[in-house]
Amino acid sequence: MTHLNPMKPFLATITDMRYLATGIKLLQVKLDDPEVSANIDYVPGQFAEVSAFGVGESPFGITSTRARSEAIEFAVNRVGTVTDALHGLDTGDKIGLRGPLGNSFPMQEFRGKNVVVLGGGIGGAPLRPVIQTILDNRADYGKLSIFWAARSPDLLVFTDEYDEWRAAPDTELHLTVDNATPDWPHMEGLITTLVEKVQPSAENAISITCGPPIMIKFAMMTLNKLGFSAEQNWVTLEAKMKCGIGKCGRCNMGEQFVCLDGPVFRFDRVEQFLESFV
Ligand SMILES: Cc1cc2nc3c(=O)[nH]c(=O)nc-3n(C[C@H](O)[C@H](O)[C@H](O)COP(=O)(O)OP(=O)(O)OC[C@H]3O[C@@H](n4cnc5c(N)ncnc54)[C@H](O)[C@@H]3O)c2cc1C
Ligand code: FES
Repeated sequence: MTHLNPMKPFLATITDMRYLATGIKLLQVKLDDPEVSANIDYVPGQFAEVSAFGVGESPFGITSTRARSEAIEFAVNRVGTVTDALHGLDTGDKIGLRGPLGNSFPMQEFRGKNVVVLGGGIGGAPLRPVIQTILDNRADYGKLSIFWAARSPDLLVFTDEYDEWRAAPDTELHLTVDNATPDWPHMEGLITTLVEKVQPSAENAISITCGPPIMIKFAMMTLNKLGFSAEQNWVTLEAKMKCGIGKCGRCNMGEQFVCLDGPVFRFDRVEQFLESFV
């Protein structure tokens, strides 16, 4: 549900704000208009433009599902002007929200398949709705293998949900960090090394990757070595954006717009453009 004018944000109120990891806050918001709030719908992979009033607007992946949360959730990594302003807000403060925007993961198409998820750092945010959707409809999907990584343990997101993920049937969680601390009990090293070690099967499988472009590049090479074709691999891309609705040309990639045709792409459709993101 969007306004008749898609550039006009909905007014929303922050209902909760907490640290997910160092420098990353989970922002929970509720739309002020009860009718809009009741009817807004979003699916895994979509994003929204969130505005801090008087400062600016930035795109963020929606990290919650309608089925699990009444509030709309975003994981916000503090990197610059807008994210700095959003981190400075608190429960009860107002923000603007345009969306949901963009396409989504074809969760219906993934039914019956084994799903391999690769999340790097804040890239885990748009993947949480995928994981939650699979866990909430567990019998519809095959094995779920989650590879979750960050530069250091304090940068891992959604750590309080790992027990639920591990306890789900036919579900594995594999963790790694680039730089371990002495008390870190899991692997130290790149996510690609972990994937090579575990060797998820490409048979009847698809993969979904979100993370920095360099991680996506090497993840695709690793998955290819394991027998995953480009058609089996799905990625979400982050481009610099302005309008978020295919009008300004800020995010174009050949003839496609990341904001409109993406941010979710089957890898064979964006392979040739990946170098421009790295
Ligand atoms: C579809 C989509 C989904 C996203 N989801 C999330 C999310 O869930 N959580 C999250 O924390 N961030 C997410 N981002 C990235 C987020 O939009 C940017 O980090 C944010 O716009 C930075 O705004 P700023 O004003 O704080 O930073 P600025 O002051 O504008 O910039 C700070 C630094 O970040 C760089 N930067 C700005 N925008 C981007 C971008 N889009 N991609 C890469 N580098 C950028 C700038 O070049 C600069 O180096 C997403 C981006 C897109 C396009
Ligand atoms: S952000 Fe304007 S066209 Fe994509």
